[in-house]
Amino acid sequence: MSLLKTLLVGRPDGIRARLLGRDKKSAPSPPPSSPRPAPAALAPEPAEKALGLRKEAPKDVTPPDGYEVVLHKDALAEGQIIEVIIGGTAIAVARVHGQHHAIANTCPHAGGPLGDGKLNGSVVSCPYHGWKFDVTDGSCQTNGTARVKTFDVKVVGDAVCVQM
Ligand code: FES
Repeated sequence: MSLLKTLLVGRPDGIRARLLGRDKKSAPSPPPSSPRPAPAALAPEPAEKALGLRKEAPKDVTPPDGYEVVLHKDALAEGQIIEVIIGGTAIAVARVHGQHHAIANTCPHAGGPLGDGKLNGSVVSCPYHGWKFDVTDGSCQTNGTARVKTFDVKVVGDAVCVQM
């Protein structure tokens, strides 16, 4: 009888059982009783955190006439340079020997973003083709006829303010 049943319906773990979904070993496992928690919603990061800045620009500082608050004075680490957009103008702000310096962000060679460049001392290398600019005076060490605009910087309270 068992042989006859095996011939007719196959073994419990045979190919027919697997094809018909009766095989317990190869059957898909039921969903876990407690499903994995859904990934947390991606909360937007504050711009300062996304940029790796340590502090937000203070909002309670009144900048001098013609100046704009751009950063907290402790936002940049020594030797760091970043791009900041103020009133639609992109500038690069650097911290060198504890002093903040601001230059135009656009490289005069071909428009590279100097705020994304590598700062070595007071010299930033453009990330596109490596032209070098001194952030303290805007001079170009690669091409003597090129330079970038500099902006006056004042620190008021905890705020780095740039004359725009
Ligand atoms: S765009 Fe800056 S070096 Fe070419």
